[in-house]
Amino acid sequence: MKLPILAYGDPVLRRKATSIEPDEYPNIKQLVNDMFETMYAARGVGLAAPQVGLSMRLFVIDASPFSDDEPFLTNFKKVFINACIMEESGEEWAFNEGCLSIPDIREDIYRKPTIAISYYDENWKHHEEVFSGMAARIIEHEYDHIEGKLFTDKLSPLRKRLIEKKLNDISKGIVDVDYKMKFPAAKKGR
Ligand code: NI
Repeated sequence: MKLPILAYGDPVLRRKATSIEPDEYPNIKQLVNDMFETMYAARGVGLAAPQVGLSMRLFVIDASPFSDDEPFLTNFKKVFINACIMEESGEEWAFNEGCLSIPDIREDIYRKPTIAISYYDENWKHHEEVFSGMAARIIEHEYDHIEGKLFTDKLSPLRKRLIEKKLNDISKGIVDVDYKMKFPAAKKGR
């Protein structure tokens, strides 16, 4: 089932998400499937639970669209539950990022290239792994979501001012988007 994606301005996107326990969400696999379906329908490479209105430490990614440049990413489809980034290292590099909650805006964002992360997968198996390149970038972006942060937070004050109106429009639903969203400041009937 596809879920509506919360748009910029929704307070859930600003909340630090809480950890989940295995017995708290026996239907976690159904939710994970729904999140993948929602993400693919919107042609995203990552989606975090707060973006579908659930303030929990869960995100999914599929980095395979980047496998042309980084063959390692072929079938790089993963679920991260209760993730914790333990270390970020290396020289920051820029990449033009977007976000399904902020349609139509893309900005160059600097992030560190390597991360060490601990997390559980959808079978509640624990992992401690190191990722680099695009995999690390996508994980860092989604990890920010469960921390209540958005990529636009990383922009310079000038850049922020330049896109401010566009961000306000997005929260009102004044944006062209071909997947289902929930707009926090939309007038009734929009
Ligand atoms: Ni995002």
